[in-house]
Amino acid sequence: MKAIRIHRQGGPEALVYEDAPIPALQPGDALVRVHAAGISPAEFTWHIWETPEGRSRLPLIPSHEVSGVVVAVAPDVRDVEVGGAVYGLTDFFRDGGAAEYVAVRATDLAPKPRSLDHAGAAATPLSALTAWQALFDHARLMPGQRVLIHGAAGGVGSFAIQLARWRGAHVIGTASARNVDFVRKLGADEVIDHEATPFETVVRDVDVVLDTIGGTIRERSWSVLRQDGLLVTIVRPPPPEGVAGRARGLFFTVEPRRTQLNEISRLIDAGIIRPIVEAVLPLQQAREAYERGIRDHPRGKLVLAVVGEDGGTG
Ligand SMILES: NC(=O)c1ccc[n+]([C@@H]2O[C@H](COP(=O)([O-])OP(=O)(O)OC[C@H]3O[C@@H](n4cnc5c(N)ncnc54)[C@H](OP(=O)(O)O)[C@@H]3O)[C@@H](O)[C@H]2O)c1
Repeated sequence: MKAIRIHRQGGPEALVYEDAPIPALQPGDALVRVHAAGISPAEFTWHIWETPEGRSRLPLIPSHEVSGVVVAVAPDVRDVEVGGAVYGLTDFFRDGGAAEYVAVRATDLAPKPRSLDHAGAAATPLSALTAWQALFDHARLMPGQRVLIHGAAGGVGSFAIQLARWRGAHVIGTASARNVDFVRKLGADEVIDHEATPFETVVRDVDVVLDTIGGTIRERSWSVLRQDGLLVTIVRPPPPEGVAGRARGLFFTVEPRRTQLNEISRLIDAGIIRPIVEAVLPLQQAREAYERGIRDHPRGKLVLAVVGEDGGTG
């Protein structure tokens, strides 16, 4: 098959488009003919180079959000059928979806939302599951609570704004000037242009902060939280003590969850939430897509098209 692979630790400059073996199925796996794969520009900064057991993963195939069609299943798989259109978040420690085929634990796949094409579906699983788990599993966001979402125009942020709105929270987002109207249209009650106004000068008493940026943004966020508030960060673990007995901080890594993907599909097909696809590039242009993601901070996601309009490799 054709695949994007990286043979040494590095960034997008080390990606190559080449032939690779079609992945072998392990028990519980489905083989998916990938139609589209979402990319995370930060992927090469993650701890991806070794398995949890310490084995090198090189050469590895990046990109862990896929949408496609099941072409084979392991003998023990019952709940996913050959021919089904599926989408999902794949294991971060196995080869990803920037390839014509990917082997995925069948339990990590869900039927593709009917109202989305494959590019839209591939833009969804990582970002929507992360936003869902941050707001609902970890922060237990309730109607009427106040939530501040940093990086509101990004992949995770754009889903978080929509999900928090759906839950009935008072939603505040931060974005650069060019994204302020866009984030308001996603459903934010208030949007702060972080280039013009330090958010901590205009926000106070929030129940939940969702930090998708880290660094000083995270540190400056403690002061806007209520005494019993919670800062959820997805970038790097915060000091466990929070700040001097005030709010609590929490870091987590997103997990594949089919039940949540089904709920996300339902909201998408009902027109309540939607993925944001900034651009779709052919698989061969993966390097450019990752570079663009790092450089331009796109709205929502960049997606690789693997099967083209004509059914051939995109
Ligand atoms: N822990 C987990 O399970 C998990 C899951 C998913 C993602 N992540 C991590 O969460 C972070 C966000 O992911 P994402 O996919 O939402 O990213 P993204 O799509 O690149 O969005 C980040 C947004 O933050 C804003 N921003 C402000 N300052 C920035 C800066 N210095 N650099 C980059 N962006 C900046 C940008 O919007 P404006 O231009 O409007 O400011 C950008 O759209 C990444 O670090 C990713 O690795 C972690």
